[in-house]
Amino acid sequence: MSVRWKLVSTYLLLLIISQIIINIFISETLLNLYLQERKGEILTKANIVSNSIKFYLPENKLIVLDDFLRSIIKDYSQEIDSRILVVDNRYRVRTDSFEEFTGRTLKHTEIQKALQGTSNASVHNYEGIGHVMYVAVPITLNEEIKGVTLISSSLNTIYSKVEDIKSSLRLIGILTTFIIGIISYFVADFLSKPLEKFTQAIKEMAQGKLGKKVRITTNDEFKQLGSAFNIMSTKLDQVDKQRKDFVANVSHELRTPLSSIKLLSESLIHQNEDDISVYKDFLKNIDSEIDRLNNIIDDLLTLVDLDKAKLNLEYKTTYINYLLENIISNLMPLADKKDIDLKLIEKEKIQIKIDQNKIQQAIINIIHNAIKYTPEGGKVEVTLYTKNRYTIIKVKDNGIGIPKESLPNIFERFYRVDKARSRNTGGTGLGLSIAYQIVTLHQGAIEVESEVGKGSTFYIKIPNDIDLS
Ligand SMILES: Nc1ncnc2c1ncn2[C@@H]1O[C@H](COP(=O)(O)OP(=O)(O)OP(=O)(O)O)[C@@H](O)[C@H]1O
Ligand SMILES: [Mg+2]
Repeated sequence: MSVRWKLVSTYLLLLIISQIIINIFISETLLNLYLQERKGEILTKANIVSNSIKFYLPENKLIVLDDFLRSIIKDYSQEIDSRILVVDNRYRVRTDSFEEFTGRTLKHTEIQKALQGTSNASVHNYEGIGHVMYVAVPITLNEEIKGVTLISSSLNTIYSKVEDIKSSLRLIGILTTFIIGIISYFVADFLSKPLEKFTQAIKEMAQGKLGKKVRITTNDEFKQLGSAFNIMSTKLDQVDKQRKDFVANVSHELRTPLSSIKLLSESLIHQNEDDISVYKDFLKNIDSEIDRLNNIIDDLLTLVDLDKAKLNLEYKTTYINYLLENIISNLMPLADKKDIDLKLIEKEKIQIKIDQNKIQQAIINIIHNAIKYTPEGGKVEVTLYTKNRYTIIKVKDNGIGIPKESLPNIFERFYRVDKARSRNTGGTGLGLSIAYQIVTLHQGAIEVESEVGKGSTFYIKIPNDIDLS
């Protein structure tokens, strides 16, 4: 059953139940009210009759009614549209306004009760006659009960009046149920429409359209849900695109060295040369391509590791000075080879909490770049200092620089400014994204300033008090 029908049927069910309860309450209250009113009226009349008879009664005698009294009783009977009987204390009917029972003996419980001194009233329902009210009032003279005035009155008009009201209420109920049913259908439709939109969007996403958006026009929680949904689908689409790009890039990067190896080995196979140095030369090339492949795969594995081990950094309090000195002395031969002046300036001694191996890799990647992208005879200057509760490692070179439009992209995986040139220098474009990941995991940041032809400056910023919570 759809949400729409669930809402409509719940509305209607509640409405019908409340109407039934209200209808019962109203009709019962009305009936009681009418009956009380009638009872009061008849009791008054019965008392009047009892008192009238008493007035005419000779002392210590049985009730005797003359024609005058009879005619009064008949008048009263017509007045209240009821039957009036006068019964003596031997249960004999002395007069009956309908004549029928005069002279007969009646032993109704109402009469018995009245002869014991209690005025009483009760309602009976007889088949074929309907509801009848009996009211009995004693006729007392000098504290002796001489007889009873019994009035029997049909309640059919009251009951049919209440029945009429009941059917009017039912009609009103049916009408309002119908109207509210229609209104609630539209309200439920209005409420469930967004859900249909979401379902449709999710189905399309399941079929591969990950960037699917929903448009919710209502100004409520559904709109918020819609915005959240759209953010999610945009993100999913981005992640999917990144994944596809990544796979394409990886395949491309792996294929280049592999096709070189293939080419070299094929030419080796077809070689008829006796000179062993030619073979050695080819094998050397193959070996360096294999190194290249190994490097790419190592970098990729590092990235996968960083993705996985997000929170598993092994923090250790470290003198960053020693770490830097060690890195510089390791890279010195590389700088010397290009006749680059590699210098370390330590402004202070700094001890911070870091994952040594990872931070070391990030710093190496950046200094390595500085050496790589600086022509022979250039300068690379590494400075260590603290500023605003951050430890800063500044790596400044006077190399080729990075064009402004490339600056936002250099931390992306596989991004290289000059693809052809990088091929010669052997880069894959993973070094900076690895460094970025590592520094970000340390709640730090990397910033760059660069100008083409003048050089680049990288700032590695690591917080002094890392939040380990
Ligand atoms: N100091 C720098 N001077 C000029 N360009 C730089 C410098 N550092 C990085 N770049 C540019 O940014 C690109 C991305 O750098 P990254 O370290 O990620 O890749 P790579 O050095 O090409 O390859 P890898 O580091 O994976 O061997 C480089 O290809 C280069 O074009
Ligand atoms: Mg690099």
